[in-house]
Parts: sequence; structure tokens; C-alpha cells
Amino acid sequence: MKTQNNMENFQSLTDAASEVLRESDPLTKVQLSLAAASAWHSRKIMKIGDATPPSRPARPARPELMDPTQMVRRRINRGVKGRKALLHSLAHIELNAIDLAWDLIARFVDRTLPYEFYDDWCRVAAQEAEHFVALNNRLTEIGGDYGELPAHDGLWEIATKTKHDLVARLAVVPLVLEARGLDVTPGIIKKLNEAEDDVSANILQGIYEDEITHVAAGRRWFDYACAARGLEPVSTWHAMVRDHFKGRIKGPLNHAARNTAGFLKRYYMPLATK
Ligand SMILES: [Fe+2]
Ligand SMILES: [Fe+2]
Repeated sequence: MKTQNNMENFQSLTDAASEVLRESDPLTKVQLSLAAASAWHSRKIMKIGDATPPSRPARPARPELMDPTQMVRRRINRGVKGRKALLHSLAHIELNAIDLAWDLIARFVDRTLPYEFYDDWCRVAAQEAEHFVALNNRLTEIGGDYGELPAHDGLWEIATKTKHDLVARLAVVPLVLEARGLDVTPGIIKKLNEAEDDVSANILQGIYEDEITHVAAGRRWFDYACAARGLEPVSTWHAMVRDHFKGRIKGPLNHAARNTAGFLKRYYMPLATK
């Protein structure tokens, strides 16, 4: 397994990011993500560099990736089967989230982006790695195994659609997808509590609190990237969601969490479905 020392020898942050993206084994990817973020935050890596990330991240042989429309939904109830499926799908999302954070860091290298941009997204990349570990450990505890169920490739399809433009990527990944996570997570926590799985519920509560800060980073850097191009952020967000997502934001919406993240109604309410 690669160690933190290896990571500190990388020439640049984009080299480190590309290394995380090229790693297929989930737990090694986690280690690399944590080590790369730590090397950046401690300034053992100082240069951004210009290494090109792979067009798609390496993935383990399992889970089998299916079309999102073919996925079977399972109810969360007292039985363990539904909870295994839930934790499996959430772990899969977090594994993708690690790669999405490093892809954002490496793909949109722009000399005008300040160090704080990389500070924020390295922190996000480390937290996504922690989220994967927490969910994967819990999945193992209840008898599951990451990879045993099919998963979907929808997140990377959206990443691919927005690979040409930082503004488009920030509009859709943190401000549609991660914001959607804030909308649905409290309901999942409630169902887990009802199923008397407080351990899983507590893990999701911790993730939820981190994810509010990911949406906040998304809004902060979306506005920054718009300002750098002289674009008005609210109407630009609407245009990006129309061009690169379905153009509609599905409810019910968690206004309180979105507001805590600084993601205000004037952005998303004009696109909210009734
Ligand atoms: Fe996460
Ligand atoms: Fe996140």
C-alpha cells in the first residue's frame, strides 16, 4: 500500500490528484485521498502543477455498474436487507465523491484560483474518504460487502457532461447533487432510527453535517468563478442547470440546511418543481 511518505514526494497537487483517480482499490484510494489532502494542507505539496487527470477514475471490478434507471429500490425497514442496500448505495456515492473532489482539483487548473480553493476541495476530498470508510465499515458490520450489489454510474456521467467548464461543474455537482443529499438525508436518518439502527443513523448525521459545508464550498467557489468571468451568479446557475442537468430541482427541499450552506432560495426556487 502506498504511504503518506510516497504522497509527499509528489511534484504537485495535480500529480497527487491524478494518482488518487487512477487507483482502483477503494481502501487504497481512501488512503491516498487522506494522504494527498494532508500533504497539501501541511504544505508538503506547494505546487498545483498541470498533470492531466484520467478521463474517468479507476474503479474496482465490483460493483457492476448499471444504468441508473435499472436500479431496484429497496425499502428501509427492520429487515437487514434494505439497510445493506442503502449503505451499499451510499458507500458507492461517497467513493464517487472522492473522485469528484480530486477531479475538480486537477481538471480545472486555472492560475487565477487562489490557494483557498484547493484548501477547501482537499478538505472535501478527505471528508469524502472518511465518509466512505464509515459507511463501508458499518456495511461490513451488518454482514454486507461493498461490491456485492450493482451500483449506478450516474454521478460520473454528470461529471463527464461538465468536464469542459469549472462553472458548469460547480453548478451541478455541489449545488445540485450534494444539495439534493441535504434534502433527502434527514428522512433516511429518521427511517434508520425507526428501524432501531441508531449506529447507521449517527454515521449519516455526521456525514450530513460535513455535506452542508461541501454545499457551502460549492456556492462560494461558484460565485467566485462567475465573478472572475463577469457573470451574474443566479441567472448563470439557472442556465447551467438547464444545459447540464434536467433543468428542474426536485422537492421536498431542505431550506434550513441549504440556507446554512449559504445556498439561498433565489438560486433554486425558480427551478423547483411544484
Ligand atoms: Fe460525502
Ligand atoms: Fe460531499
